[in-house]
Amino acid sequence: MKRIVVLTGAGISADSGIATFRDSDGLWANYRIEEVCTPEALIRNREKVIRFYNERRREVLAAKPNAAHIALTRLEQDFDVLIVTQNIDDLHERAGSSRITHLHGEITKLRSSRDELATVPLSGWEQPLDARHPDGTLLRPYVVFFGESVPMFDRAAEIARSADIMIIVGTSLAVYPAASLVRYVRPEVPVYLVDPGSPDTAYIRNPLTHIRKRAAEGVPELVDMLLGQK
Ligand code: APR
Repeated sequence: MKRIVVLTGAGISADSGIATFRDSDGLWANYRIEEVCTPEALIRNREKVIRFYNERRREVLAAKPNAAHIALTRLEQDFDVLIVTQNIDDLHERAGSSRITHLHGEITKLRSSRDELATVPLSGWEQPLDARHPDGTLLRPYVVFFGESVPMFDRAAEIARSADIMIIVGTSLAVYPAASLVRYVRPEVPVYLVDPGSPDTAYIRNPLTHIRKRAAEGVPELVDMLLGQK
């Protein structure tokens, strides 16, 4: 069974109503990264950071997987599908995908302030400001902030190396090390990019097909084509 590796970014969830980061109406047009998405911000204004992620979590819980998330689950009937997502939402899980690696964390979980992988589930949208982890430290969102290490990167690189087909959906390929995953794909492996915009494809040396459509339209079409090729 051929292995398909799918790298997704905020664009795949845009059609579920969740804002991307760098589009003109994106999150970073309305919030400063230094104030809500760095370790220093968590120390300096903890309440603002916790409230920011409570709001993100509330949006995610109100959103639903769209046709793109659902189409990717159909691929599993004929391919060995591994999803590597930069997204912290759980829409791939809720769509029914079974093998997902979150590079930047998961908004439905909190973690210890001391151990980046010591997570606890959070039900509902609101993290109480002073809740503590069993290890005694204050809990924080299980989200990789700018400037923090990406513990899942090595696993994701190993997955990228194993791809027979690579699909990239809805990422500007602007943030490292996530964007460097395209360099781990064997050069002969075909890459299919679904994005209405123009991500940074400078490092993609593979045979590249760019489907310039929104994920909810382009991904189902791509999945139909790949299943038809079988
Ligand atoms: N369908 C598909 N792609 C879309 C859609 C859509 N409906 N709408 C926008 N896009 C594309 C944009 O053209 C862009 O290429 O999605 C991409 C969104 O890029 P970013 O906003 O930069 O999101 P992403 O690449 O996921 O950001 C990476 O940056 O802020 C950090 O940790 C955060 O994981 C995030 C990382």
